[in-house]
Amino acid sequence: MDTQRLVSDPSGLNAAADILGSGGLVAFPTETVYGLGADARDGEAVARIYAAKGRPAFNPLIVHVADVAAAQRYGLFDVATRKVADAFWPGPLSLVVPLAPDHGLSPLVTAGLDTVALRVPAHPLAHALLTRFDGPVAAPSANPSGRISPTTAGHVMAGLSGRIDAVLDGGACSVGLESTIIGGTPLALLRPGGVAQEDIEAITGPLAVASEQITAPGQLASHYAPNAALRLNADHAEPGEVLLGFGPMPCDLNLSDRGDLVEAAANLFGQLHALDARGAPIAVAPIPNTGLGRAINDRLQRAAAPR
Ligand code: TXA
Ligand code: MG
Repeated sequence: MDTQRLVSDPSGLNAAADILGSGGLVAFPTETVYGLGADARDGEAVARIYAAKGRPAFNPLIVHVADVAAAQRYGLFDVATRKVADAFWPGPLSLVVPLAPDHGLSPLVTAGLDTVALRVPAHPLAHALLTRFDGPVAAPSANPSGRISPTTAGHVMAGLSGRIDAVLDGGACSVGLESTIIGGTPLALLRPGGVAQEDIEAITGPLAVASEQITAPGQLASHYAPNAALRLNADHAEPGEVLLGFGPMPCDLNLSDRGDLVEAAANLFGQLHALDARGAPIAVAPIPNTGLGRAINDRLQRAAAPR
């Protein structure tokens, strides 16, 4: 794939919005770092973010929107979070709030959680892109997994050229480190970042100390593991089990009957939820441990871990 370098004029913005609209990946500047954006409603587009970054696990992603009104379509704000949003948006702050009914986001964005991290970036190009696209954009930092976050379009190209559709060049990011993340009841600091804790506490009062970080391996598993027992690498269902398949095979639901790991990643959380609702133990077919298969297997192993 040839990665286009788009300039920050109306034609570049239109091209970037069109790529998002057709399920592609566009890196774009925010005031914190460059984000690698995809339509947050499109599971396969979101799966491609993980593939492009070579990310070995599905962490929940931040959903970027143009303004508070748009944020309220995806998340539920109480008085406290609304006050913080009004004070710091647009800006380098992400808020984790409960998902709104009918949010329409891919479960891959939230990694199957019932909360969503939302952010209204202040960068004028990010704002213009979000306005033009007129939809929610999932975006982690636009770097290969485990590498330094990018603060110029050149950094993005150095890491991801050939793996994404385009980068929208907006020069250097002014903040240069990721957004502060807060969320939960009581409100807790989940990640320090571009807005100082003291500035937030001036509005909220003291923030709680998060007991563990969401990114720590155990935590996601405890937020979402199926109620049912999970049996991995199963080639058939035992009596009483439901089978989550991969590739052509008889099964209850199939992650991808054509054996496509991008499609499988997009379906993973939604199908686990659906099978879990049947109340039976879940057997899961073997997933190749390459590309996105590593992230799928990481998630499945956590979900199957003793608890
Ligand atoms: O500044 C930033 O925040 C940049 C730009 C591009 O906006 N984005 C960014 O994304 O840093 P990323 O993927 O590196 O960080 C997302 C983190 C996750 O690792 C997780 O800790 C947290 O956000 N997060 C996302 N959704 C969450 C949720 N529902 N509950 C708790 N934490 C969540
Ligand atoms: Mg990052």
